[in-house]
Amino acid sequence: MPLSEIDTTTYSLPLARTVSALRAQVAQWRAEGARIAFVPTMGALHAGHLSLVELAAAKAERVVVSVFVNPGQFAPNEDFDAYPRTEPDDAEKLAETPAALLYAPNAREMYPEGFATTVSLAGPALDLETNFRPHFFDGVATVVAKLLIQVGPDIAVFGEKDYQQLLVVKRLAADLDLPVEILSGPTVREADGLALSSRNAYLSPEDRQTAVKLAEVIHRMARNLEAGARISPEVEQGKHVLYQAGFNPVDYLEVRDAETLERIDRIARPARILVAARLGTTRLIDNCAVAPPT
Ligand code: PAF
Repeated sequence: MPLSEIDTTTYSLPLARTVSALRAQVAQWRAEGARIAFVPTMGALHAGHLSLVELAAAKAERVVVSVFVNPGQFAPNEDFDAYPRTEPDDAEKLAETPAALLYAPNAREMYPEGFATTVSLAGPALDLETNFRPHFFDGVATVVAKLLIQVGPDIAVFGEKDYQQLLVVKRLAADLDLPVEILSGPTVREADGLALSSRNAYLSPEDRQTAVKLAEVIHRMARNLEAGARISPEVEQGKHVLYQAGFNPVDYLEVRDAETLERIDRIARPARILVAARLGTTRLIDNCAVAPPT
């Protein structure tokens, strides 16, 4: 019965707006023996998202992609209203990928009247983004837990672009015994190195030129650290370059343990450089790997 709730006429790929339609479709695929992969998004899809869909399709027979701009992860002063909403475009892009279903619930379906439960976190959620967006990871974790429970995938794919989020989600899935394997896909970059992000659309043409510095700085730091440079002068120099370029403030530029995000004072194990900085009215984040010096 709920399978009839799957909308096959609005877009070129099937669309579910309700949890029951989604579950009916996934149950049918499971009955056919298919493995299910899931890619959660907030829409405004770009090549980075589409690469996650391709990765998901390499691991499972059916791929579900969600588009839901989650109010729970925006603070009142943030860009929830301005966040790009481009569902018809997103659907057309997805129709060109191996995605089998678009799941696009509305806020009422996701947070019905009386909704009162949130996931709260410690571990990798502490520090970094949380110091600047204290509400953020509880909002992400709550919606991701709900989405994973709604879809019930074998595999879910998250981008390394949001590296702290990726670790938070891995921790969440392990801690809540969610029977899903969390995979990650590499950050996709513009030709000049800027990490693709839906928020890049906010940048003025001039700021777009400057934005690439973020990637340049962290990749230069990674090369220097891998060649044996010390962390703290590299961080100081990196911040200096970003402020000089026009980023203000640099919320953080840090080198952390790649697995736990704990503070480190030398690179003895794989590490990660993480940065968040504001350019004009746009807050950009990026990160890159650092291998221990050989
Ligand atoms: O990375 C995102 O786009 C969002 O944080 C996610 C994981 C879809 C949850 O809303």
